Amino acid sequence: MAVERTLSIIKPDATRRNLTGKINAKFEDGGLRIVAQKRVQLSKAQAEQFYGVHRERPFFNDLVSFMISGPVVLQVLEGENAIARNREIMGATNPANAAEGTIRKEFAESIEANSVHGSDAADTAAQEIAFFFAGIELVG
Ligand code: CMP
Repeated sequence: MAVERTLSIIKPDATRRNLTGKINAKFEDGGLRIVAQKRVQLSKAQAEQFYGVHRERPFFNDLVSFMISGPVVLQVLEGENAIARNREIMGATNPANAAEGTIRKEFAESIEANSVHGSDAADTAAQEIAFFFAGIELVG
């Protein structure tokens, strides 16, 4: 297995409920290291660009509105097989389908307000990290 990096976002439903620490404990207990982290308020243009791949989906406008409804915590997580590992720790996109012990099972409110985002593959991880972070901000 290779050491990878993946982009994580703690979403507004979770920052609103003060869950950043509990979610970070899930990542760290799950073997991932937080090598970069910043709390920001995304603009509409930034959220639209980040989720551009979903532009034609019926949920796009609601997703963008939700992602700018409060602060988010942008993170880079590092570890063995980090992209897949993070997806295991997060659980299924829809919390109704998420396994016991996962972030989304414990904390998500709905498929939209699902507490966390994680990159889905190596190429998107590289793109998403570069979208939000400069190399000098990643401290392993
Ligand atoms: P995320 O991993 O951030 O990627 C796209 C997001 O769209 C997804 O998590 C969900 O929060 C959100 N979303 C809202 N509705 C849907 C839907 N019907 N199917 C998939 N994703 C959805």
